[in-house]
Amino acid sequence: MNVRVLAAVSGARWEASLVAALEGGASGITVVRRCVDLADLLAAAAAGTARAALLSAELRRLDRDALSRLAVARVAVVGLFTPGDEVAQTRLRQLGVAHVLRADAAPGEIAAAVAQAVAAGLEPAGAASAVDYGDPAAALLDLDDPSSDTWTADAPTAGDGTGRLIAVWGPTGAPGRTTVAVGLAGELAASGVPTLLADADVYGGVVGQVLGFLDEAPGLAAAARLANLGQLDLAALARVAPTAAPRLRVLTGISRADRWTELRPAALEAVWSLARGLAQVTVVDCGFCLEQDEELSFDTAAPRRNGATLATLAAADTVLAVGAADPVGVQRLVRGLGELGDVLPATAPQVVLNKVRRSVVGADPEAQLAGALERYAGVRDVVFLPYDREPLDAAVQQARLLTELAPDAPVRLALAGLAATLQGRPVPRRRPRLLRRG
Ligand SMILES: Nc1ncnc2c1ncn2[C@@H]1O[C@H](COP(=O)(O)OP(=O)(O)O)[C@@H](O)[C@H]1O
Ligand SMILES: [Mg+2]
Repeated sequence: MNVRVLAAVSGARWEASLVAALEGGASGITVVRRCVDLADLLAAAAAGTARAALLSAELRRLDRDALSRLAVARVAVVGLFTPGDEVAQTRLRQLGVAHVLRADAAPGEIAAAVAQAVAAGLEPAGAASAVDYGDPAAALLDLDDPSSDTWTADAPTAGDGTGRLIAVWGPTGAPGRTTVAVGLAGELAASGVPTLLADADVYGGVVGQVLGFLDEAPGLAAAARLANLGQLDLAALARVAPTAAPRLRVLTGISRADRWTELRPAALEAVWSLARGLAQVTVVDCGFCLEQDEELSFDTAAPRRNGATLATLAAADTVLAVGAADPVGVQRLVRGLGELGDVLPATAPQVVLNKVRRSVVGADPEAQLAGALERYAGVRDVVFLPYDREPLDAAVQQARLLTELAPDAPVRLALAGLAATLQGRPVPRRRPRLLRRG
């Protein structure tokens, strides 16, 4: 087999000797193009002329976004570093390059790494890569972030995290995703679990505001930016995720909806995988939209707003689908669950019906709602949270957690039950005094 590769090692001292060695013959790879820079590489990759690329760590503007575009174009990557340059080696690994070699490796070794990288790319796609982030050729042309020019790589590499990722999602109509995400994170932390709460709502997040953080808190956008540059490690993640309560760290979101481009899918995937090392449970407040196609069709070079939501849902171990417990809310939830199943068929969400009250559903609302969800969406297992306005309003107004502000409130007790269920702990039994207010 002769594998056609692109070489983007321009400027490296060893460029000429490497290419000469590879061209020398029987290595099994053919360099079809020596790319002068990253734009050249991405254009060649989009053209489909090669199956792999050799990159040097010094390639200017190399970041996660660029690597994800190569992956979308099905070009496998092997990273090369100048012997002795450990900073370069670390940076390639932090960017997510799995196959990294010394630049003076024997041609046979480089060819073997290329073959492995190509083979890895042919394996059935993992959960994250199964997501379609848009048209590959168009994505390759979107190379507009001048901030990628600078980086420093003085960070240690993170160990393997085993923390769990819970995505809180729900259809349009403010069913209570933020309320559930914040409440659940508060309960987990209060029960002794080191927890990270992250706001990934691409339509503008309010978690920071709800918990009393300043608008300028660095948060998730800062973590994503560092991840994109290959500079995010556990220490850096901890620095941008301040503590809101004992055992509860918070990555605040983007304060304005027009900043959504700061939450790129490839970068978020890196943030979530590191978050698994920072906290035992990471709870993510997600956006509501799933359409992959919301841009006007002539504007195909634009990245997708909902890529962040899709990447988060795909990475999650558990997805909570929050719906409002009224006829309109249930209808939206049923439709939303259908869309979710179309986009991510492997995801089996835990349905949470929020704001349960007699006044809109009638007597025995839980039985009625459960019946409707089973009929229209085949959902059997539903967690109910009662309508309980007063303590929630007070919590938002005072920027405090329900666990401390209103420990006996029905909605708080129900959230504690949800946290217990998700951890496989027995749910404390109590009379459902939840519905009295309805
Ligand atoms: N169980 C509940 N009982 C009463 N009000 C609720 C409940 N859950 C959420 N709310 C209120 O509904 C509004 C929308 O909730 P929010 O969590 O911000 O929704 P989303 O994040 O889905 O847009 C907020 O004012 C919130 O306080
Ligand atoms: Mg919200």
